[in-house]
Parts: sequence; structure tokens; C-alpha cells
Amino acid sequence: MPLAKPTVEDIKDLAQRYPSKQSAIIPALWAVQHEQGYVTKEAMAEIAEHLGLPSSLIEATASFYSMFLTKPEGRHDVVICVNAPCMLRGADEMAAYLQRALGVRDGQTTPDGAITWHSTIECLGACGGAPMMQVDHRFEENLTEERIDSIIERLRQPVVAATAPAAQAAPTAEAPKRKTAAPKRARSES
Ligand code: FES
Repeated sequence: MPLAKPTVEDIKDLAQRYPSKQSAIIPALWAVQHEQGYVTKEAMAEIAEHLGLPSSLIEATASFYSMFLTKPEGRHDVVICVNAPCMLRGADEMAAYLQRALGVRDGQTTPDGAITWHSTIECLGACGGAPMMQVDHRFEENLTEERIDSIIERLRQPVVAATAPAAQAAPTAEAPKRKTAAPKRARSES
């Protein structure tokens, strides 16, 4: 899908704003993700064309930073930490439980499109609340199977439209865009 005109204009503006075109790569990727929800190879090629840079450079940047999505993912992002301090407090068991509860493997999205989950071997910086996971940028600490059940139940709630009188009902609220700052290095549970 070609980029929308305003996005192309944004990228062209960015190309002029920085002394080095490479500095415009990250804001250009943000502009595309903001428009399309994720960044396809086709979109990366367009960015490259507008910035006058090799496509491989855009792809390398997009794949390095975990906040850029290269494929559609769930409405909610769950990242469970399995680094040593969390592991010592039962993170592996919690990750295995999460996998069973969601019915999909590490890195996959539930069939209803609600949740994409990952495990990470990088500390998420909340060891004091181990075992823990990050849910849409918020920490959920001291995990137990019961807490995981309750979090999943909350995330599976349908997106509620904004309150409005029936006669002038508002359009359905847009699902929250997933943006994660968690590292991409992940360990799959087998
Ligand atoms: S090791 Fe899990 S948050 Fe630090």
C-alpha cells in the first residue's frame, strides 16, 4: 500500500530538516507507523527513495529498534521478563502458564487479535517486583497464575466506543496502537 500524501510530505520535510539524511530515518519510520500501524518493506523502500538512502539502511534501522513493527500485531502487547532475577522468582513457570492461557507461542498473536506476547531475556527494570511483565508499557509485577488470568481477561474486553447519545453515536473507538520499548531478543518456550 503506497504511503498517504501527508506522510510523504512529512518524510520530505524531515529530509530537509536534518544535516544528515540518516537522522531522518527514525522520525520517518514513526510517520509511517503512525499512518499504517506498522512498516512494510514496501513502505521502507518508499522512505529510502524520499531520503535518498539505500533501502537496506531503513530496514536495518527498523529491525534494530523494537518499537517499530514490521507486521500487524495484536491490540495489546505483553512482554514477560525471563532474565535471571525474574527466573529465580518463577518467571519460566509464569511464561509457560501465559503460553497455555493464551494458546499461542512466544511471538504470536491470539486468534481474536487481542494480544501478542513475547518473552525477553533483557531485564525490564522492575526486578523488585519479579516475576513481572510489561503490558502496553505498564508493569504488572509479582505475577501469579491468578494475576495473569485477570490481566488476560481485562485485555480481552472488547474495545468500547466513546459514550455518546444514541442519536449521535460516535464512531467505534480505534484500538490502541501497539508500541513497545521492550528488546526484541526473546527466548521461546518450547
Ligand atoms: S530481571 Fe526481570 S525485571 Fe529485571
